[in-house]
Amino acid sequence: MNNLLSVLGLILFVNISALAATVNDNIVKSTKLFHSTAHSTTTYHVSGVDDGTYDILISPNEFDQLSHLSVSLKESGEQLPYTWLNGDSYVQPYNFKRLAVQLPPNTPQLTLVLSISLNNPSTPLPSQLTQDDLAYSLSFKTYTHVVTPYHTNEMRVKVRAPTSKIHRYGMTHDDSKTTKNGGSMVYGPWMDVAPYSIPTDHIEILYEAAGPRLKYEVSERSAQVSHWGNVVSFRDDIVVRNNGPSLKGQFTRLTHQAQTFLNVLPTNIATMLSVRLPALSEEVFFVDQIGNVTTSHYKQGDGHSSHSLLQLKPRYPLMGGWKYSFSIGWENSLRFAAKLARDGTTRLSIPFSSTPEDVAVDRHTTRIILPEGAQVHSVYVPFEVDVQYETTTSYLDTIGRNTVVLSKHNTSDAHNGDVTIVYSLSLFNALRKPLAVAAVAFALFSAATLLRRINTRI
Ligand SMILES: *[C@@H]1O[C@H](CO)[C@@H](O)[C@H](O)[C@H]1NC(C)=O
Ligand SMILES: *[C@@H]1O[C@H](CO)[C@@H](O)[C@H](O)[C@H]1NC(C)=O
Repeated sequence: MNNLLSVLGLILFVNISALAATVNDNIVKSTKLFHSTAHSTTTYHVSGVDDGTYDILISPNEFDQLSHLSVSLKESGEQLPYTWLNGDSYVQPYNFKRLAVQLPPNTPQLTLVLSISLNNPSTPLPSQLTQDDLAYSLSFKTYTHVVTPYHTNEMRVKVRAPTSKIHRYGMTHDDSKTTKNGGSMVYGPWMDVAPYSIPTDHIEILYEAAGPRLKYEVSERSAQVSHWGNVVSFRDDIVVRNNGPSLKGQFTRLTHQAQTFLNVLPTNIATMLSVRLPALSEEVFFVDQIGNVTTSHYKQGDGHSSHSLLQLKPRYPLMGGWKYSFSIGWENSLRFAAKLARDGTTRLSIPFSSTPEDVAVDRHTTRIILPEGAQVHSVYVPFEVDVQYETTTSYLDTIGRNTVVLSKHNTSDAHNGDVTIVYSLSLFNALRKPLAVAAVAFALFSAATLLRRINTRI
């Protein structure tokens, strides 16, 4: 009898713990659409968590367009580690990808924030435009629900377009659950949604573009650190492409000038690019294959502002499908970028990229060229990147410079955060350059003296 009771108790206990399953009390997904990118934030109010993990499902579209992803706790902002699960755990037949987020211990109730950035989430329509066509549209496909492995009490999906000119926004089966206000759409609230439920197929949001759709086909940064010169010198080599509808027919400068004069430029033309540089950047340059481009504007941020602004005006307007190659460069005082730690190491922080808002980058590479003789202790990047090491040899170098090469596919402004490198540089190595210069100067001096002697003898 006693045994039977304890077995019953065990069964009850198991049942109760199975009942105390994870529930989404509320989910809100907000997506902000641009032309080349989109940023989306999903807030999950969760309760009943008992095993320390929470699974998030990512739609195949989002997975293919993914540029950046992070999961954090809403209250503290703390980033949480996650792993992608493969194989059978994909949600069929829709092929959603599953992400297992590791939660801090003893948090039955919490609010998670999933932040994702997408590159090229929208398709331009039509695919070609003449110079006289003033407008084009972008088509974005999404689900009206957030798909999740848990029961959800209430959820909403919000989408905001860059203009209020929305040609289509996908009525769901329940018109009263679809609201549009200017360029903002809200789907829901959906109540008591079962796990894994995908009640409607994709909807399409067709919105009119307010500007060009730009991408960087090439984006290469080099940042050279000089203790001797007390500077970090940056150079970015860029190939930008207007990735909107391509130009149909001939380009005529006359039409362009008339449109500029009348202030009716087509939205598909890029005439300006704004790049945020670190505050107090100096020695700024903007060159292309022809030479210095003087039609740029630089507004230096002071010590209080977070950045300086460089406005680049390409030599010609970028029509749909056109490309432009250029380089920009600047210098930052080393004292803003590097700190000497007590143990004698240097802690250097360099922005990984300075990609403008709404530019999709195919692949970005940052080369950080350390002073001669510097030994790298650690490299920290707040997202996944490929890390490689090289040696760069430049003028008057004796042993070459250790160089950290970081690269990543499909980046955007979500990757403009700092890379931190800790390195050490012995006094001898710090003096290597001046010693080399002194040695060369001495050699020249000796040679000159010798020549003078020879000369006087003749
Ligand atoms: C280009 O600009 C840089 C920086 O302003 C300047 O030092 C350099 O002399 C210029 N070169 C030419 C060819 O004008
Ligand atoms: C980058 O994006 C392209 C186009 O969406 C995709 O084909 C490619 O697999 C992505 N690369 C990586 C490394 O994610």
